[in-house]
Amino acid sequence: MRAIVLDSYADTPHIAERPAPVAAPASVLVKVRATSVNPVDWKQATGKIKLFMAAKFPFVPGYDLAGEVVEVGPGATGFAVGDPVHTRLNGTTAGANAELAVCGLDGVRPMPAGMDFGEAAALPLAGMTALQGLRDVLGLPMTGASGRVLIVGASGGVGHFAVQLARSMGAHVVGVCSGKNAELVLGLGAHEVVDYTRADAYTNQAPFDFIYDCVGGDLGLLVSLLTPKGRYASCMPGPAIFLWPILHVFSGRSVKPVMLKSTAADLAVLDGLVDQGKLRVVIDSRFPLAELPAAWARSQSGRTVGKIVIDV
Ligand SMILES: NC(=O)c1ccc[n+]([C@@H]2O[C@H](COP(=O)([O-])OP(=O)(O)OC[C@H]3O[C@@H](n4cnc5c(N)ncnc54)[C@H](OP(=O)(O)O)[C@@H]3O)[C@@H](O)[C@H]2O)c1
Repeated sequence: MRAIVLDSYADTPHIAERPAPVAAPASVLVKVRATSVNPVDWKQATGKIKLFMAAKFPFVPGYDLAGEVVEVGPGATGFAVGDPVHTRLNGTTAGANAELAVCGLDGVRPMPAGMDFGEAAALPLAGMTALQGLRDVLGLPMTGASGRVLIVGASGGVGHFAVQLARSMGAHVVGVCSGKNAELVLGLGAHEVVDYTRADAYTNQAPFDFIYDCVGGDLGLLVSLLTPKGRYASCMPGPAIFLWPILHVFSGRSVKPVMLKSTAADLAVLDGLVDQGKLRVVIDSRFPLAELPAAWARSQSGRTVGKIVIDV
């Protein structure tokens, strides 16, 4: 099969032939029709996060995919050859940027009927990170939420899902984005936007009950915007996030990291919201597999609006 391969951290991702995998027990083999770019793909492949997510060479990057089942592994009930499915590959070995991928039953789901392969590949990793940050770390209920939620990075992969989810949960949503993306973020359901490029961005803002930081913003500034019992979560957790609770034991506020755990159950929650018309994918751009380096360059620019899709 054809796959994107890197032979070292310094290598450029390139197309190469790799042995075709076979379906393992409790898994399905999927012919990949689309995959999506997440920053973790190029961070892992270039060694940026090798302390906790080392790449094993030759390395096939990528975690998100959508495609059709071509083989059902032993004990893999509920799926048949030809089923359209999507997943975030579990574990840290990656492998989605290839024509075939083995998908564990613990993460794979039938694709929502109204989505094409590109949209379905764009949803799992960023969507589950948005869901788990809001629901599990910040503690928002799936319906009937109250309070003001600030989503920092509202136009990005994780952020644009977080805006829609927080709105669907019932919160008052304020999205932080640059002025050029304000209309998009309001269209996703934000009640208000804050243009972070303005010097007076946070002047006269009422306090927030919840802040979901999807870009790794100024921790001190953002925590100062919380109510006395407000909660802050970040999916870009650095040392300051882990140290904060130790240094502020008497604070009523909380500061916590978001660490994605992908599960078929959470993907099912997102799929259900897609089916109900409450969640959609914004596509920034699409590239063929051979042009993955250009797709990564787009992601590395930090300007992605929604998700980058790779057609395989
Ligand atoms: N912890 C986990 O489990 C986990 C899971 C998923 C992702 N992540 C991490 O979370 C981060 C975000 O991922 P992503 O896929 O959402 O990234 P992304 O799509 O590349 O984010 C790009 C977006 O961020 C916006 N942005 C940049 N600087 C900003 C600022 N100062 N304020 C507000 N918005 C800003 C950009 O808008 P403008 O062009 O308008 O600036 C752009 O729309 C990545 O570092 C990723 O590795 C972690």
